[in-house]
Amino acid sequence: MKIVILTGAGVSAESGLGTFRDKDGLWTKYDLAEVATPEGFARDPVKVHDFYNARRANAAEADPNPAHYALARLASQFAGEVVLITQNVDDLHERAGQDAIHMHGALTRAKCAICDARWQAPLQMSAAAPCPTCSEPATRPDIVWFGEIPEFMDEIDMHLTTTDLFVAIGTSGQVYPAAGFVAEAARAGAATLEINLEPSDISGLFDARRIGPASEAVPAWVDDVLKGVKFQG
Ligand code: OAD
Repeated sequence: MKIVILTGAGVSAESGLGTFRDKDGLWTKYDLAEVATPEGFARDPVKVHDFYNARRANAAEADPNPAHYALARLASQFAGEVVLITQNVDDLHERAGQDAIHMHGALTRAKCAICDARWQAPLQMSAAAPCPTCSEPATRPDIVWFGEIPEFMDEIDMHLTTTDLFVAIGTSGQVYPAAGFVAEAARAGAATLEINLEPSDISGLFDARRIGPASEAVPAWVDDVLKGVKFQG
């Protein structure tokens, strides 16, 4: 049996990292067009770096919570295959001991806007820092911004069309292509489950849902899967 899991900001909320669209979410305090688009970066790279330097500092201070650890436990103890895709740019899944496919990039990586070279990001990045490969002062966070194509989409499509169960955790289902994963997996025959603090806007597309904070709902679901509970809704 294969399980494909998609996580969003809600899985890291109880680690103290802000979500985007909840009350007090990041997009209520910052203008998305200014800090999360290539055009915004071209206009004001210092502002964009300030935004991601703050995100990187928050993530470095945060610790994985019981949801991250439960998913790592599932990956190591489940008899079948577990694939983890995350929209999150923090590294809390990795620090809980689990590799994730980072479809929206990672705060820990830097990228050259000119030659596309990638390297380990320092805690504080600056646009003026020269690229280690081409020396151009065009350093940007290795984050997928609005208007850019998410990473690893071929690999993700392959997993979505070959999975038995698709589970979305802590994501509002408002950003594509990730919001379309449930339909893609269902079309290919997968059962689908949403785990979220409250039903998301696309909750009705899932076969079942578990409502609650990720730190409680995810470990409880993982316990059921490892006990062999047949349908995990
Ligand atoms: P959102 O902020 O849009 O949604 C967070 C979801 O998590 C909401 O449905 C909340 O109800 C839920 N949630 C909040 N706290 C929770 C908790 N403790 N336990 C469980 N669920 C909880 O975040 P995403 O869906 O991840 O992209 O956003 C998707 C993308 O939009 C992000 O990757 C980012 C953003 O703009 C880029 O920056 C490219």
